[in-house]
Formats: sequence, C-alpha cells, structure tokens
Amino acid sequence: MDNCETDVLDADDHAHPSGRCMTGSIRNSFNTIGLHLLNRAVFLLAWAKRRQRVSVGDMYVKVNLGSGLTVAPGWINVDASPNALLSGWPSFILNRLYDLSDNRQWHSRAEYISILKKHRFIHHRLEYGVPFDDRAIDVIYSSHVLEHLFRGDAEALLSDMFRSLKLGGLIRIAVPNVEHAFRLFQQGQKELALEYFFSRSPKGYLNHHHYMYDFDLLKMFLEKAGFTQIEQKKFREGIVPDIDILDNRPEETLYIEAMK
Ligand SMILES: C[S@@+](CC[C@H](N)C(=O)[O-])C[C@H]1O[C@@H](n2cnc3c(N)ncnc32)[C@H](O)[C@@H]1O
Repeated sequence: MDNCETDVLDADDHAHPSGRCMTGSIRNSFNTIGLHLLNRAVFLLAWAKRRQRVSVGDMYVKVNLGSGLTVAPGWINVDASPNALLSGWPSFILNRLYDLSDNRQWHSRAEYISILKKHRFIHHRLEYGVPFDDRAIDVIYSSHVLEHLFRGDAEALLSDMFRSLKLGGLIRIAVPNVEHAFRLFQQGQKELALEYFFSRSPKGYLNHHHYMYDFDLLKMFLEKAGFTQIEQKKFREGIVPDIDILDNRPEETLYIEAMK
C-alpha cells in the first residue's frame, strides 16, 4: 500500500482535537489557509512549467519518474509534490514543510532535509509528459507511479518515455500487482484489498490510484508504446542500475523491464 511521503497534509489533519485552545485554533486557521494556498500553487506552477525541458548534455542520464523521496545518487528525480518543488530552497523552509507534511512518518527531519538538498529534483506533473528532449535519457525508473495516472495519461506517459529514451535505453516500471489486491480480497482481507482501488477521502490527490495493472496489461501498453524485450523481473533483480536502493514493497509489486 502507498506510503507516499509527498503530499502536504490537508487542512483537516491539523484541526485541533478539542477546539478549546484559542491560540491553537488561530494557528490552525493560518495553517489551513497556508496549506490550501501551497497545494493550489504547486498545481498551478506545474501547469505553468508543463512544457519545460531539462537539459542534460552528453552525460549518462538516469531519471526516476515519480520518485517521492526514494532516491539514489546520480539520478534526476521528477515528481509533482511540494517536496520536489521546494527541494532547492533554504533549510528553514524545508523544516516548515517537514512539520506540515506526511514525511514525518517515514523520515527523520535530518534525513528529509538531506535527501532534498543532496539529490536533484525536478518539479513536474507526469500528465504533461517526460520533461526531457527526444532520445536524451539512458535509463528510466518509475516505481508505484503509473497507477496514479488515469489510463489515457498512463498510456501517453509510456509513449513519452519511449520518445525521451535513447535507442537501446532501458525502463524499469514497478506497480502494485492487481492480482495481489484480488488475492487479498479472496482471502478475506477485503478492506485492505479495496484500498488499492478506492481512497478513503479526497485528501492527498497525488496518492490516489486511477488504474491498476497485471503483467499482461502492462506488457500490452508497453508494446503499444513501442518497447521491446519486455520481461517480468523479481525484486531487486534486473539490469537497471541501483534497484537494490530503489525497489521497495516486494510483496505487492510487479516489476517489469523493457528496452527501446
Ligand atoms: C506511491 S509514491 C511512490 C514513490 C517512490 N517512487 C517509491 O516507489 O517509493 C507515488 C509518487 O508519485 C508522485 N506522483 C503521483 N502522481 C503524479 C503525477 N501525476 N505527476 C508526478 N508525480 C506524481 C507522488 O508525488 C509520489 O511521490
């Protein structure tokens, strides 16, 4: 199940439990307004940058699409979250973002700030495609992201991955396997299974699932996009670099590698 560390919490998460403390409730009102504005600004800025192209020159280019904070050295990380947007900003702003966000569940403050400062992030919504020129990328890794896009956007994204890869370039896609969700349901873990398809609330829009895959479906979409040598892989097995760092959630995940 998603343990995304990306969305800034919705305002309701900051509501004071008793409502008794006046100072607390004023502070919460400021948080509420601030968070709504930040979430709107993050989406608006992504739209404004929808045609951006990251220049990479002649280097060996590894791109992690929808990285969240699961990163490896030397990769360019692309994500629509506030974390990616504010990654290069001064520490006092990142400290504030940490306080407001879900990241506290998964990372210490020091870890969080270090990830955002040491790694390269591009703020970008994948509905607008891959923000690189044609044949600019050597390797694309994308884990637990494709299912967050509507089917049409996901198909378009796979075609755009193909466009932006060099000839002979590789992709590794990881998605929750829909068969895993069906299995859970059949075994009686119904609520857990349904969380793969339905969100509890509209909060954290970037974390909602909009489509699901098994090997055959994903293979079909990859073939349509032009990929060849499409193979199912095991957890941390394959030829894409750094999967020992990037692969996660083996129990639920379908891993596929393919080539342009
Ligand atoms: C479930 S998390 C996976 C994070 C990481 N790849 C991993 O495997 O741990 C999904 C990530 O995709 C990002 N994401 C979701 N929808 C996106 C979109 N439309 N454009 C860009 N990033 C998106 C979220 O912000 C989040 O970081």
